Amino acid sequence: MYTITVIPGDGIGPEVMEATLNILRASDLEFDFQEARAGYVCFQDTGTTLPDETIEMAKNSDATLFGAVTSVPDQKTAGSILALRKALGLYANLRPIKSYPGVEAVYNDLDILIIRENSEGLYSEIEEYTEEGATALRVITRKASDRISRVAFEEALKRGKTRVTAVHKANVLRKTDGVFREAFWKVAKEYKDIDASKGIETDEFYVDAAAMFLVTDPHRFQVLVTTNLFGDILSDEGAGLVGGLGMAPSANIGDNNGLFEPVHGSAPDIAGTSVANPAAMILSACLMLQFLGEHQEAFKLEQALINVLKQGTFLTPDLGGASTTMEMAQAVRKIFEES
Ligand code: NAI
Ligand code: MG
Repeated sequence: MYTITVIPGDGIGPEVMEATLNILRASDLEFDFQEARAGYVCFQDTGTTLPDETIEMAKNSDATLFGAVTSVPDQKTAGSILALRKALGLYANLRPIKSYPGVEAVYNDLDILIIRENSEGLYSEIEEYTEEGATALRVITRKASDRISRVAFEEALKRGKTRVTAVHKANVLRKTDGVFREAFWKVAKEYKDIDASKGIETDEFYVDAAAMFLVTDPHRFQVLVTTNLFGDILSDEGAGLVGGLGMAPSANIGDNNGLFEPVHGSAPDIAGTSVANPAAMILSACLMLQFLGEHQEAFKLEQALINVLKQGTFLTPDLGGASTTMEMAQAVRKIFEES
């Protein structure tokens, strides 16, 4: 039995969440889904976007599923998802860039994993106004660079990948990305020494070149590891190569916790109209199942979604179909249940 904290959030968050839970309830595994609040509606009701209770529940569960939240306009603090990642120590953000059949995309055969450092960098939120304007502090530590590099090699081994690429800008950001780069190569050498037969190649790119090659020659990449801001930008670029936000899942991982969420936001423009594509949330649930060590179940769920995409009968409008969120999820559930 797994205890899962479920945070539906705002807008289409609750819609794609309900669709996904409906599928997971058909699993051979047993889940205890415990609902918790966060986001804009929560703020309007309680005065906070992230109640302590939600953090406590997430800390004490086996994993957390997060839908999407609407940002509170003009709020001075960062949104609830940033605060939650911080509170749970989720330092690694995993963003698979994967093509799926039946989904219109720039490339139909990509399977790249972008690993973004999630705890520091330019998102340390240390900014201040100066006389001329403002400055932001880019914090890069050896500890965080070392542990994110390890995540990259471990994920590569788990997924049978044979190349890990570090992305930085150490020619300009000599000190900060110098630290990141040095930590990466130190970890790379350790992995070579541990078991050379696993044969993981390592290389590195400056972020500007990596951004270009991601478009012109993405097949040279398998696992990319990078700092916070670069990872944020490259992973959305990657999502654009394989079918957009409706298809992009993510995992936030720490030493004791994992939180799984679609990359997209609360999509107020389509909320309440039942057209949200549930695939990104379903694929986030796949990442959760992998994190829990339930690889067979994760595979079954992904295959069920792939079958629905291939058949093309129950697709949401963004995928060229005319089905609702729930109809598409029902179709996935049916195949999942029977497999
Ligand atoms: P968004 O991701 O919500 O929407 C961007 C566009 O993609 C919209 O046209 C939307 O209709 C479409 N879209 C997104 N998900 C879709 C899906 N599953 N199926 C079909 N179409 C989909 O980004 P936007 O509009 O910039 O932000 C809306 C709100 O969400 C804002 O308040 C923003 O701050 C918040 N947000 C929250 C995130 C989170 O909870 N992790 C992440 C990004 C934005
Ligand atoms: Mg982003």
